[in-house]
Amino acid sequence: MRAWRAALLRFDEDTRSALYEEDGLLVVGPDAQGRPVVRAAGAYSALADRFPGVAVEHLPGRILAPGFIDLHVHFPQTDVIGSPAEGLLPWLENYTFPHEARFADAAYAQGVATVFLDELLRNGVTTPLAFATSHPHSVDALMEEAQRRGLRLIAGKVLQDRHSPDGVRDDTEQSLVDTEALIRRWHGVDRLGYAITPRFAPSCSEAQLRGAGELAAQYPDVWIQSHVAENKDEIRWARELFPASRSYLSIYDDFGLMRERAIYAHCIHFDDDDRALMRDTGAAAAVSPTSNLFLGSGFFDYEGAQRIGFRHGLASDVGGGTSFNPFHTMLAAYYVGREGQTKPGLSLGPQNLWWQHTAGAAEALGLSGVVGNLVPGCEADFIVLNPQATPLLARKVSHARDLDELLFSIIVLGDDRVVDRVYVGGQAVVPSVA
Ligand code: GUN
Ligand code: ZN
Repeated sequence: MRAWRAALLRFDEDTRSALYEEDGLLVVGPDAQGRPVVRAAGAYSALADRFPGVAVEHLPGRILAPGFIDLHVHFPQTDVIGSPAEGLLPWLENYTFPHEARFADAAYAQGVATVFLDELLRNGVTTPLAFATSHPHSVDALMEEAQRRGLRLIAGKVLQDRHSPDGVRDDTEQSLVDTEALIRRWHGVDRLGYAITPRFAPSCSEAQLRGAGELAAQYPDVWIQSHVAENKDEIRWARELFPASRSYLSIYDDFGLMRERAIYAHCIHFDDDDRALMRDTGAAAAVSPTSNLFLGSGFFDYEGAQRIGFRHGLASDVGGGTSFNPFHTMLAAYYVGREGQTKPGLSLGPQNLWWQHTAGAAEALGLSGVVGNLVPGCEADFIVLNPQATPLLARKVSHARDLDELLFSIIVLGDDRVVDRVYVGGQAVVPSVA
């Protein structure tokens, strides 16, 4: 067993509010299966005597917090960040598809997988839900790299058998055979999970969506990930291609692709029936504010999501998104929350923003109590934050009168410099000790 003493941030799973100890203790040790988990977390004064003989590392001035979860990110778009376009569809055609075609080369995919996981980790993200490309070995490259690092990661091969150029378009039947083979190869191996990944309805034939839905029924604990209702032109196109469905979102429901563990990126242009469908099926939205602002897609309606009550959490959506950094994503979500504000007081508070990137994202994935929090039994993925990392932040936090002011200061002024250390399964991975 090992322990760390510092300020400690975690979440109450029921109220979703933050629990904060100025002088906290985090104790990590093996569970019954020998896996490193949180054994205790709370006030140092209340816990210290319970763990005599356990080595305690004291980190004064630092904050222990759960590793972040990125609910939607594209590993092959690491180098697509910052490619400006008029909107989603020209961005896909001019930058994204040509770049993803390079992942036909397995060695190239392996190289990017390393950079991608390095970037996530140095920004404090310990659990990504990631798109690979349509090439099955791109999934192998990412899974192998994550396995080597002991990470909890969920990923899938993109399905796109139409309206996609040579180099990324796959074959309907083969794509489903490949998906099932990848599920069997990777799902549940160590800390890895598989996600059935139709790119978006316009890039998938009916037969491909039907096959994806059948696999989703056959493997109920596998995840599903896709995009929906991101951009007005995209929505028009989807509606033309699937005129029988009530809405763009309903297309996925009609093919058996809405259930718990189904994560849909964007969910911007919804009506209340769509919101109720999300709620009633247990699907979740991956809110991707930096992407939505960068591509001019629109604003996630937080008021609608809270009023109808469906699961949602935060995502970078790199490379439509502009940053791997969770503080940048939380700040962008705050701007978006202000835009949609219909009543005073509805703008998102810092505890809510942080929850959406940790315990709330875990709930969206069906992984509450596994990742995204620091309560007993959670896997030991945590970060050490330094609120003195930059002169302006140090100055600002010295004036913070309460937890909201402290967290909001970090969200607004923080970046990767604030992430001092990252632990995965109780082992330090940042700074790298290799
Ligand atoms: N819709 C279909 N593919 C993509 C993608 O790669 N990124 C985003 N943001 N939207 C999509
Ligand atoms: Zn995306």
